[in-house]
Amino acid sequence: MSKHRISLKVNGRLHELEVEANKTLLRLLREDLGLTGTKCACERGDCGLCTVWLDGKPVKSCLVLAVEADGHEITTIEGLARDGKLTPVQQKFVEHGAVQCGFCTPGMIMVAEAFLRENPNPTEEEVKEALGGVLCRCTGYRQIIDAVLDAAKEMRKAST
Ligand code: FES
Ligand code: FES
Repeated sequence: MSKHRISLKVNGRLHELEVEANKTLLRLLREDLGLTGTKCACERGDCGLCTVWLDGKPVKSCLVLAVEADGHEITTIEGLARDGKLTPVQQKFVEHGAVQCGFCTPGMIMVAEAFLRENPNPTEEEVKEALGGVLCRCTGYRQIIDAVLDAAKEMRKAST
């Protein structure tokens, strides 16, 4: 398998790596950079658990080749909290008990955070639709939806 030299920024830190042409961004993050917060499940775009941001937009990292991330900026769940302070979405997931086994949580949070930046005043239906691509087998989604709606309220309060 041919190797390619790439450079990308992950959570603000520049990395230069040699990667196989068929390595996914998901595997690069987990195996080469040790960022195992991004979860690996279906590896075919169905579950959403591997969601990270590429230049600020959510992508399923199992569907992105590492070479495609060359020159781009990636944010993973490890890059959200600042100086140990959780984001409002993370905080509300804790408060609402929206985490059970936790396997879907990083993907849920990466999708929810990006969604609230685009739509700071969502309806419940919009939240359901936004999170529709991330599968959770534990919570029944109620606590997750409540957490996202509450985080939106908190973020609106903070911006006034
Ligand atoms: S592991 Fe990427 S969508 Fe399931
Ligand atoms: S909390 Fe277990 S899959 Fe969502």
